[in-house]
Amino acid sequence: TVLVVDFGAQYAQLIARRVREAKVYSEIVPHTMPVQQMLAKNPKAIILSGGPASVYADDAPGVDPDLFTSGVATFGICYGFQAMAVALGGQVARTGLSEFGRTPVDVEHPGTLLHGVPAGSTVWMSHNDSVTQAPDGFDVLAFSDATPVAAFEDPQRGLAGVQWHPEVLHTEHGQAVLERFLFDIAGARPTWTMVNIVDEAVEDIRAQVGSKQIVCGLSGGVDSSVAAALVQRAVGDQLTCVFVDHGLLREGEAEQVERDFVAATGVDLHVVDAQERFLSALKGVEDPEEKRKIIGREFIRVFEDAAREIVAKAGAEGDEVEFLVQGTLYPDVVESGGGEGAANIKSHHNVGGLPDDLQFTLVEPLRWLFKDEVRAVGEQLGIPADIVWRHPFPGPGLAIRIIGSVDRERLEVLRRADAIARAELTEAGLDRHVWQFPVVLLANVHSVGVQGDERTYGHPVVLRPVSSEDAMTADWSRLPFELLERISTRITNEVREVNRVVLDVTSKPPATIEWE
Ligand code: XMP
Repeated sequence: TVLVVDFGAQYAQLIARRVREAKVYSEIVPHTMPVQQMLAKNPKAIILSGGPASVYADDAPGVDPDLFTSGVATFGICYGFQAMAVALGGQVARTGLSEFGRTPVDVEHPGTLLHGVPAGSTVWMSHNDSVTQAPDGFDVLAFSDATPVAAFEDPQRGLAGVQWHPEVLHTEHGQAVLERFLFDIAGARPTWTMVNIVDEAVEDIRAQVGSKQIVCGLSGGVDSSVAAALVQRAVGDQLTCVFVDHGLLREGEAEQVERDFVAATGVDLHVVDAQERFLSALKGVEDPEEKRKIIGREFIRVFEDAAREIVAKAGAEGDEVEFLVQGTLYPDVVESGGGEGAANIKSHHNVGGLPDDLQFTLVEPLRWLFKDEVRAVGEQLGIPADIVWRHPFPGPGLAIRIIGSVDRERLEVLRRADAIARAELTEAGLDRHVWQFPVVLLANVHSVGVQGDERTYGHPVVLRPVSSEDAMTADWSRLPFELLERISTRITNEVREVNRVVLDVTSKPPATIEWE
C-alpha cells in the first residue's frame, strides 16, 4: 500500500489514481491521521500531496518529523515538498515570485528521481512560496526561474520531492517521475492488476457474507452492474438482484439488463414491471423536484416490496437475508470523510433510503475503486461493453429530460430521439470522448416548422453533450458539425413530433448537466 496524505487540495485523488495506474495500490488518508496510525498500515511508501496553504500560515497543517525517520520512503509534492523541506531543516521563503500553470524547469542533475527526464521540461506548477535551500543530505535536482530548488532527493533515506504536480496530465514525464519514486526509491512492485483486484474483492465478499443470502438493486448503470457481478462471482447462488423497470429508461436498457447482463453473469434476476405505477404517480406533474420526489418514493416502495418477498421466500426456505449490495465508489467514501469505519455514511443513497424495518448490512465491493477501475473490473468480469462503457444516467431517468409533464407518448418521442443521438455518437466512435449526452424534449414548447410543404407545429429537442471528469464541472463537447448534422437530420426525419434540434453550448457552472 502507498498512502497519499491529503492536505486538503483537489490533487490527492488524482495522485492516488496515478499510483494505481502504475499498478501499485494506494489509499488516501487525512493529514490529521497520527503518524503511528499511518505506519500501522504498513505502507510501502507515503506521498504528501499538495495543499492550499502556505507552510508559514498559522493554520498550516504540519508534518510530524517522525514520519521522515520512520524508514518509510516518502515523496513530497508541492505543499508536501515544502513541508518536507521545513521539517528537515531546509528553507522555504516567500520570494514574491509565484508560478501557476505551465512552467519550464531545468533538470541540472537527474539523480534517481528524474532519471530519463530531459534537461528542459514543462511542468504544472501552482505555488507562492519556494524552497530556497534543500535540507542537509539532499541533492538538488532541478530549478525554475522562480524556484531555486524545484526537486530534491536523498535516495539513501528514501526521501524525495518536487515542487510541481507530477499527477497532472499537463506535466511532461509526470507519471515517469512518480514511477521512479515508487519503483526505484521506494522499491514498490507493480502487482495491483485487475486479476488481483477481482480475486481480492471476491475473497472479501465471501468472508463478509458467509452463507447468508444477499439482495442487490440493479439500475442498469455501470456501478450497480459491476458490484452485482462481483458478488455473483463470489457467492453466486446466495444473490438475488432486483431490477425495477420504472418505464423511464432509454431504448434497449431494460432488455440489456434482462438479457445481456444475465447472460454474461448468470445472476438470479427479479424484474419488477412498475411502469404503470410510476406513470400514474407522475401524471400531470411538471415541477422537476416534485418529479424526483415521486420517483424516489415509488422506487423505495417497489424495491421494499420486492425485498420483502425475497426475504420471506428465503425465510420459508430457512435462510436469512442479511446483506444488501451497494455500488458505492471510492470518491464517495473519501468525500464523506471515509476510509475504514465509514461503511454507513452514504448507506442508503443508491436505493433512495430504505426504511428502518428492513435492516441490512451493506456490502460495498467497489468502495476502494475509482470509476475507471470499476470499468476495468467490469471488463475483466465479462460484462458487455455496452454496459461497462455506458454514460452516467440519472436515477429519475427520462422523466427529468422531458420539460413539462411526463406521459407514455412523450417518453416514446424522447426515447426515439435519444436512441438516434446515441447511435450516431457510437457510430462516430466518440462514446468515450463524451462524459454524457443527454437529449432533452421541450414538451411544453412548440416550434413552427415546414416539412414536405406543410406547416408543422412540433417540439424542439436539445442536444446536451458534455465533457467532464466527475460531473461537478462540465464543458459542452465540441462534436463535429457533420455528426451534429446527421443527428439533426435523422431526428427530424424519423421522429415526426420533433421539428427542431438545438445544441446546448453552456458549461457547468453556470448551467447544470441535466435541464431539470
Ligand atoms: P447536474 O444536472 O446536477 O448532474 O449537473 C450531475 C450528474 O448527476 C446526474 N443526476 C442525477 N443522478 N439522480 C441521479 O441518480 C438524480 O436525481 C440526478 N440528477 C442529476 C446527472 O445525470 C449528472 O451525471
